[in-house]
Amino acid sequence: MTDPDGAGPLVRMRAATPADADAIAELSGQLGYPVAAAAVRQRLERLLAAADQAVFVAAEATRVVGWIHGADQLLVESEQRCEILGLVVDQRLRRAGVGRGLVAEIERWAGARGLAVISVRSAITRAESHPFYERLGYERVKSQHVYRKRLRAR
Ligand SMILES: CC(C)(COP(=O)(O)OP(=O)(O)OC[C@H]1O[C@@H](n2cnc3c(N)ncnc32)[C@H](O)[C@@H]1OP(=O)(O)O)[C@@H](O)C(=O)NCCC(=O)NCCS
Repeated sequence: MTDPDGAGPLVRMRAATPADADAIAELSGQLGYPVAAAAVRQRLERLLAAADQAVFVAAEATRVVGWIHGADQLLVESEQRCEILGLVVDQRLRRAGVGRGLVAEIERWAGARGLAVISVRSAITRAESHPFYERLGYERVKSQHVYRKRLRAR
């Protein structure tokens, strides 16, 4: 993202690295998923080594102010597609185009992989994300319940 008149912060999108783990963990807390930086680093190392996964960050100088995770999903019943699996922008920098820039990065990545569809599941409670995705051209196609079962104790 560029800042043509030089008035605001300059935020650039780039591929994530394991060194971003601390910032990504902190932002994940804002998303409602508190997580230890060491766990994020381990997961990033696996994700960044996988060709069908993409993690980008938005950086204002050296400060990471947002991240997005997208994946190439091969499904039995549907057309292969890209799914956005996580996205958050620092509360202090919302409504400044950072989220739009991160989604554009994933859309470029998905397009380069030949994927024709991109989807995202957004919780009903994430009220700000609904107008956001609609503004970016995403169409609400369904609502669903999410079920979960723990197979072993933590
Ligand atoms: C949703 C989220 C990522 C949006 O990021 P952002 O950087 O604030 O969004 P942008 O500034 O790039 O906005 C892009 C467009 O969406 C619109 N938009 C963003 N938030 C909006 C809101 N709360 N209400 C109405 N429109 C909104 C913007 O006005 C903008 O439209 P424009 O460019 O035509 O003016 C951010 O609010 C966030 O991190 N929320 C918490 C986590 C979350 O909900 N993640 C999504 C999980 S699926």
